[in-house]
Amino acid sequence: MYASAEAWREVDAYFVDTLVPEDGALVSARRSGARTTMPQAEVAPNQGKLLALLCQIAGADRVLEFGTLAGYSTVWLARAVGAKGHVTSLELEEGNAAVARENLERAGVADRVDVIVGPAAESARRLVEDGTQPYGFVFIDADKPSNPEYLRAALALTRPGGVIVIDNVVRDGAVTDASSPDGRVQGVRTVLADISRDERLEATAIQTVGSKGWDGFTIIRRTG
Ligand SMILES: C[S@@+](CC[C@H](N)C(=O)[O-])C[C@H]1O[C@@H](n2cnc3c(N)ncnc32)[C@H](O)[C@@H]1O
Repeated sequence: MYASAEAWREVDAYFVDTLVPEDGALVSARRSGARTTMPQAEVAPNQGKLLALLCQIAGADRVLEFGTLAGYSTVWLARAVGAKGHVTSLELEEGNAAVARENLERAGVADRVDVIVGPAAESARRLVEDGTQPYGFVFIDADKPSNPEYLRAALALTRPGGVIVIDNVVRDGAVTDASSPDGRVQGVRTVLADISRDERLEATAIQTVGSKGWDGFTIIRRTG
C-alpha cells in the first residue's frame, strides 16, 4: 500500500513548516523560477536545506554548482559556506542568470557567488585551465545527458574529501531501463556506471518523494 502524491506533499509541507523556515529571500527565489526557462525545476526547500547541511558536514567553504536557474539552491549553498566562503554557479541561459543575480542580491550573498553564463562544460574547462582553487562540495543539476562530463569536471576541480551530489537520478523510475532512448536516463546510467568503476569514489543513491514528486540524489564522497 503506497501513499499518494498528495500525502507526500502534505508531509513535505509539514517537514518544511517544522524544520525548514524560508525567509523572504528564499521564497522570492523559489517563486521567481516562474520567470526562468524551467519553472518549478528548483529543489524543494527541505532538499535545499539537505544540500546546505551536506556542504557544512563536508566542511566545504568553496562550492561549485552546475545549473543555477533562479538561484534557489545557490542561495542555500551560499548561506551554508558563510561570509568567507565562495560559490561558483554555472548557467547556460543569460536570462536565468539575471534572475538568479537579483535573488542572490536580495539574499545578501551576491558578494560570495559568481554566476558564470555559458555551456557548463566549457565554463568548467576554463576553471580547470585557470588553475582554480579546488572545491569542497559540488552540486550537479544542469542538463542530465551531460552528467558524465560534469562528473569528470568535478573530479578535476576537487580533492580527496570532496563531496559531489547529483540531482534527478530516478527519472520516474526509467533509470532502470538500460535500453531507454532518453538521453537524460542514459546520462544518469552512464554517470552511475562511471562512479561505480572509479576507485577514488564512494557513493550511494537515494530515492525521494515529496513536493517534487518521485526522484532522487546520488551522493558521492571522494576518497582518493
Ligand atoms: C534543474 S535547473 C537547476 C535548478 C537549481 N539548481 C535549483 O535547484 O534551484 C537546471 C538548470 O541548468 C541549466 N542548464 C541546462 N543546460 C545547461 C548547460 N549546458 N550548461 C549550463 N547550464 C545548463 C538550465 O538552464 C537550468 O537553469
